[in-house]
Amino acid sequence: MTQRTYNWAILGCGRIAGKFSSDLKLLDNVRLYATASRSIDKSKAFAEKYGFEKAYGSYEEMAADPEVDIVYVATPHSHHHDHAILCLKAGKAVLVEKAFALTAAEAMEMIGAARENNTFMMEAFWTRFHPSLAKVKEVLASGTLGKPALMRSEFCFYAPFNPDHRLFNLSLGGGSLLDIGIYPVFWALQIFGVPSEIKTIADLAPTGADRTIAMTFGYPGGEMAQLTSSLAGCSDTQTEIWCERGFIRVRKIDPQTVKVTVSVKEVSEEDYIFHQENGFGLFLEAQHVMECLNAELTESPLLPHSYTLQQMQLLDRIRKIAGIRYPTEAL
Ligand SMILES: NC(=O)c1ccc[n+]([C@@H]2O[C@H](COP(=O)([O-])OP(=O)(O)OC[C@H]3O[C@@H](n4cnc5c(N)ncnc54)[C@H](OP(=O)(O)O)[C@@H]3O)[C@@H](O)[C@H]2O)c1
Repeated sequence: MTQRTYNWAILGCGRIAGKFSSDLKLLDNVRLYATASRSIDKSKAFAEKYGFEKAYGSYEEMAADPEVDIVYVATPHSHHHDHAILCLKAGKAVLVEKAFALTAAEAMEMIGAARENNTFMMEAFWTRFHPSLAKVKEVLASGTLGKPALMRSEFCFYAPFNPDHRLFNLSLGGGSLLDIGIYPVFWALQIFGVPSEIKTIADLAPTGADRTIAMTFGYPGGEMAQLTSSLAGCSDTQTEIWCERGFIRVRKIDPQTVKVTVSVKEVSEEDYIFHQENGFGLFLEAQHVMECLNAELTESPLLPHSYTLQQMQLLDRIRKIAGIRYPTEAL
């Protein structure tokens, strides 16, 4: 059976949009169709660099193009709500970068718009599609390590303070939590679910954005997860799940490689290497979107709207406890 080819468009020609576009090129059933930027010169340069056919100087013009099938929304999280809804109303399938929105309330409106327009929408959470997660779930389900009891997960890098940069500017959704803390939070949700108790310590930058946030999640069965994200220093970017008879460690060794170590205490230690020869792993989510569209789905069975909403609600809860508020949020 011949696969349908989809016309992709990029909304917002920034850093991650570049990586995503080079990953799109790895897929057969993709037509690099259009770019959209607030600046026509930037859009043209991006289109030329990655091989897109058309360049638009506004997001609205691109959304009005009937040839566009799927839009990848790669603007700051503060703008995902408006940009996703713009495309959904135009009947496009939409893949929205993480964090999906600023708040759960925004996420709910986006989900409502996808339903009203009967269009596909998914959060671009590449980790969900990475084979390392499937390996972790397989090992835990096998029972070799016994019950998972504790978790430690972190994602930290150094970013010099710049009040105007999206990482520190609250109007652009600044802060480590929504940018990278979302990954440790994702791991805790995947392994233990929604916590019954949350404690936080946050170091806020002068703009009010969280430079560092440490979180402890507690669960009714006594499980705990210690999670950290920070823009103050570099970490190893790893997740460890401590179980009755050993642990699993998931560690990103380089942009193409994730190592999963399964250690049975005093018995064995085995490494599983997940290496992508080409690309950053973002093509996995793009491929999944097209498979969903081939199956005429309006949401992903692996990353459904209900999961994304649950994650946004948890992020809201953490921010409330830590005293992190965005200027657009209702008091
Ligand atoms: N999945 C991942 O691994 C990953 C990695 C990094 C980032 N992300 C996510 O991707 C999104 C974009 O991050 P990025 O690092 O690519 O950011 P970036 O380099 O700053 O690019 C964002 C783009 O958004 C557009 N934009 C629209 N309104 C804007 C405004 N008011 N201020 C600034 N930019 C505006 C700009 O494109 P035009 O000028 O072309 O209109 C800009 O180039 C964020 O939500 C982030 O969390 C995901």
